[in-house]
Parts: sequence; C-alpha cells; structure tokens
Amino acid sequence: MGVTEVIGLQWGDEGKGKISNIKSANADVVIRANGGANAGHTVVKDGEKYALHLLPSSIINPNCVSVIAAGVVVDLEILYNEIESLRNRGVQISGHNLKISSRAHVVFPWHKELDQVYEDMRDNPIGTTKRGIGIAYSDKALRVGIRMGDIVSSDTNKIVDLIKASLKPKRALMGDDNTDFDKYRQKFNLYRKYYAEFVCDTEAIVQDAIRNKKNIVIEGAQATGLDIDFGTYPDVTSSSCTASGIAAAAGIGPRDIGDVIGVAKTYTSRVGEGPFPTEQINEIGDKIRELGHEYGTTTGRPRRTGWLDLVWLKYAVKLNSVNRVVFNHADTIGAFDRINLATSYLYDLYGDGEEKRIDFVPEALEKCNPVYLNMPGDWGGIKSLKITEDMTEDEKKKVERAKMFFEFIESYLNDGEKNIRKRKVRILALGWGPGANDIEFLI
Ligand code: GDP
Ligand code: IMO
Ligand code: MG
Repeated sequence: MGVTEVIGLQWGDEGKGKISNIKSANADVVIRANGGANAGHTVVKDGEKYALHLLPSSIINPNCVSVIAAGVVVDLEILYNEIESLRNRGVQISGHNLKISSRAHVVFPWHKELDQVYEDMRDNPIGTTKRGIGIAYSDKALRVGIRMGDIVSSDTNKIVDLIKASLKPKRALMGDDNTDFDKYRQKFNLYRKYYAEFVCDTEAIVQDAIRNKKNIVIEGAQATGLDIDFGTYPDVTSSSCTASGIAAAAGIGPRDIGDVIGVAKTYTSRVGEGPFPTEQINEIGDKIRELGHEYGTTTGRPRRTGWLDLVWLKYAVKLNSVNRVVFNHADTIGAFDRINLATSYLYDLYGDGEEKRIDFVPEALEKCNPVYLNMPGDWGGIKSLKITEDMTEDEKKKVERAKMFFEFIESYLNDGEKNIRKRKVRILALGWGPGANDIEFLI
C-alpha cells in the first residue's frame, strides 16, 4: 500500500488535520513527524470539534496507532493537557494506540521564554507561536537537547543533571540565572511515570508496519511556505515540513513513500510575518477571513488572507513530488462573484529596474507582484461538482463554473497539460465544509 503523506502546500492551516483524519479511517498507523505544539489541526467528527496540537488527528479513531515520531519537539505539559482533555471527552488513549519516539526532543519552559526573548530582540519579529519551537530545535542541532527517552528512563536527579549540562553554555554566556531546579524535580517525576507507557522505539513499529504492508499515513505539520530551507526564510518555522523532510523525520526512506497528498485552500492564508504576494488587506481579505473563519487554532490570531497563488502552488507541488492535491474551502471561495488566481509574477529579474513576467518562485518573493487571471465564481450553496437531474438551471451553471475553475487549476499545475490521462498531478478531493463528510473525492 505504501506510505501516504499529507502535507501543507501554502503557509499552514490548509486543513491537513481534516484530511489526515479522513485518511486515518482506513489507516493502521498515522504519524506526526515534525514541528510541535505550534501546530493546530482542527477535526470535526460527529459535529464535535477537536483542536489538536501534538497528537496526530487519528487519535480520535482508537483503532489506529498514532505515532509521535523522532522529528517532533514535545512540550510535556501541553501534550499532557491534550491527552487528558481528550480522555475527559471520552477519547481512548493508552500505550496501545499512542506511541512516542524515545528520540523525540523535549521542549522546556525556558525554550518558550527564550522564544519570546528572540522575538523581542528582532528588528523584524517573525510572529512565532511562542511555543519554544526554534529554541528547542536549535538545542537539538547544538546536540544539547534532551529526549523523551531521557525523560522516562532517567531518575529525576539525572534529568536535572542533563538540564544543567544543556544550559551550561547559555549560563556561561549570560551569567547564572538562578534557575530553580528543585521546582522542576516534582514535575519530572510525574512526567517520567506518566509518559512511560507511551515512549518506545517507534521506528521499529513503523518499519514493522511497512514490512507487513500496513496502511500508513504521515500527517505533516506547518507547510512548504514555512519550511526551514524552502520557505520564506527567516519568516519560517524551524523544521523541515516538506514531503522528504517529514518522511526522514518519521524514520521512513524515500522508496517507501506512495502518494504525496498536498493540501491547499482555494485562497491563501498566513499567520505571522513574511512575504505574501496575493495578500488582500481590504474588504476582499476581510470577507475571506469571516467566511473561512480564519482565526488561528493555536494562538487565536486573525489570519492574513488573500487570493490563491498558483505560482507558489506549482513550486510547492514540484518541491514535494505531490501527485494528489486536495482543495479545502471550495465552499468559501464560491461566495465570490469573481475570483482572482495569480498565474505569474512581475519581478525585476536582472536587477535593472525593469520588471519581467516570471512563473517561478524566486528567493526574493517579497519583490514579486502577482499577475492575476480573473475567473467567474458565484457557486455558493453547491456541495459537489456533480450535476444531477433534480438541479435547477441556475444550480447546474454554478457547478459548471466551479468545474471550470478547478479544471483550470489542475491543468496549470501540470504545466498546461490538457489531456487528463497525461496529468501527473490530479485533484483528489474538494472540501465543501469543515466536517469529515464535507469532502468530495474526484478520483
Ligand atoms: P491544519 O493546520 O492544516 O490542520 O488546518 P487548521 O485546522 O488549522 O485550519 C483549517 C480550518 O479550516 C479549520 O477551521 C477547519 O475546520 C476549516 N476547514 C477545513 N476544510 C474546510 C472546508 O472545506 N470548508 C470550510 N468552510 N472550512 C474548512
Ligand atoms: P499548522 O500545522 C500556520 C508560523 C507562525 C510563525 C512561524 C514561526 O497548524 O498548519 P514557530 O512558532 O513555528 O517558530 O513560528 O510559523 N506557524 C504556523 N502558521 N500554521 C501552523 O501550523 C504554524 N506553525 C507555525 O505563525 O509565522
Ligand atoms: Mg493549523
């Protein structure tokens, strides 16, 4: 069956959680592989809304094994609260259906404090989620990180020693900050016992599942635009969010990957700072925000909003070897009479002051001005691309307009290929609402 990946193609919040949860209905194992509590994945099941930060969206399907892999940075307190609040809502979570890699690094309270310090220090803050992500990953890269295996296997004194060793260089530079280690002792004792049933060599479990041809899904967090290498650096997160990056972070090699499902919205949203060529700081952006409920799942911040950027989308599709795309919010964009799609940029390619039309994503995205194709919209109320006998003429026309819109996008993502059979990238499904049933599979 191979491993299916679900990744974000834009700047996050594309609805990856919803798709990954739908996929988990037939999956044996679902893996979160990158990022940490900066993610916020919304799943609506039986009318109930779940906002997940560290747990894979499969956690609400108890028959599926949910894995937090080596590439994740785990905030012990946030994960504890997340597990307990789900248990209180009747979700079954135990060492049988939740496995946390002993190799995953831990986010400590001072990582979050330092995240704030770095933000305050910057001339141009990134607008991070303040979840300590960048600092935890930098400790990992500095090789002074502490891992989940350390938390469950060491006694409290050993953990405190590890922490002291980890903080030593920082303290040498900044002076003794009088960290009160005693205050942590009790907590670590609790966490050591609490996490013992979950922490294991998830890599062996995943490899076993691959060998036994089980159905495996990797649920990406963040997105291509926030990728540490290929996103809009420095306005990015600190992990690799691409298809290759999350496979590596899950302990899975490239030849085991099957479908790469790229998730996008029919428009663009972004939280935090950074270039956004198609941003609409006007009534169009406001309308998208209100109709799409574009407020952050993790921080509650209003999201920046704008038109769909196909130049970016094609870049993301190629970078991730995406072969299937899901567009969420097909309903939201249908409320607009006319819809803009950015199909190229104007950019001073040679630095001679003359803007040229380009259809690739240069490193200096902030210097790009979008060129739009204006298409008919106005398909509010429809929930499918299928035309049925009982539809009115008006409804049939709505469906035709929506079909034309998505047909154009699919052709664009295949470099203008007209023949559907020759297209390598196909639109797999459209989201017509937030619920697990509001999805229409097209192939
Ligand atoms: P993720 O981080 O990629 O999992 O996405 P988020 O959960 O942060 O944000 C996606 C938001 O869009 C959530 O509020 C979802 O409930 C909502 N959503 C997802 N798909 C659709 C859709 O097709 N239509 C509408 N109207 N809302 C959707
Ligand atoms: P999901 O998985 C949207 C953004 C932050 C900030 C930048 C760096 O729900 O799509 P960080 O705290 O990671 O150091 O912040 O990245 N960001 C996200 N934006 N969705 C996310 O996750 C995000 N995770 C981080 O807003 O601009
Ligand atoms: Mg989100």
